Amino acid sequence: MTVAASEPELPSSYQLLRLGGVDSTNLEARRQAEGGASDKTVIWAASQSAGRGRRGRSWVSPEGNIYFSILLRLNGDVADAMQLGFVIANVIAESLSDFLPSGTKVETKWPNDVLLNGKKISGILMESESANDGKTLKWLIIGVGINVCAHPGTGEGGVITTALVDEGFDFQPTSIASILGDIVHKFDRGLTAWQKGGFAPVRNAWLARAAGLGGEITVRLPNETISGTFKDLNKDGALVLGINNSVERLITAGDVFISPTNGEMD
Ligand code: BTN
Repeated sequence: MTVAASEPELPSSYQLLRLGGVDSTNLEARRQAEGGASDKTVIWAASQSAGRGRRGRSWVSPEGNIYFSILLRLNGDVADAMQLGFVIANVIAESLSDFLPSGTKVETKWPNDVLLNGKKISGILMESESANDGKTLKWLIIGVGINVCAHPGTGEGGVITTALVDEGFDFQPTSIASILGDIVHKFDRGLTAWQKGGFAPVRNAWLARAAGLGGEITVRLPNETISGTFKDLNKDGALVLGINNSVERLITAGDVFISPTNGEMD
């Protein structure tokens, strides 16, 4: 299948490393970072043999989907840089909306997923390296997978997935390069806006598309599973879970499951 025949057009400040197959674009981005690759290097692969997901999971990566990682070298703290996970999720949601028929429901899902018609279409894996103080960012990798032609069906943890071609997308040989180019352009504008305006506008845009907001959700943490109301995203990107009228918990890591009564699927 020749699905990635064309070259994406990226902003002039970005360098593209295009690969056929790779173990993982995030792993390659790490190798590139350690080898001195510059800020705004994009590693794009047609397929991955060891694609990685959040929380140690694998990401099934046959040819026909989008797999890329953006290497950034930013000044600042690791904790702040993690806000870019919400920037890229907003960008993916906006870009996919532009490529899909109007009326397609595109949502963000905490922490960094994008859903199409209630099903997972895209996942994001953020990885970073800090300086000796454990705080200052040395480099950040934003890894993005988007199901274009194939998806695993029901993934790990019962997550229901989909692919663009199953949601009304008219696939062309140039589609992957077009979507990738569009996302990187939008991301670059989002990065500049975040550097100038901070997290608040990003948070607002993310909340405007947030799946399950205001409804009942279940959060699976490493050692417990808790249910409550998805009340908000706080100023640092933590999910605010209302346990009852008086107790709120801030969730900084975990898997979210949206109750069917919420009108959403996970
Ligand atoms: C998740 O939802 O669990 C995150 C999935 C992230 C997958 C992408 S594909 C490109 C990049 N390389 C990887 O190995 N993982 C990310």
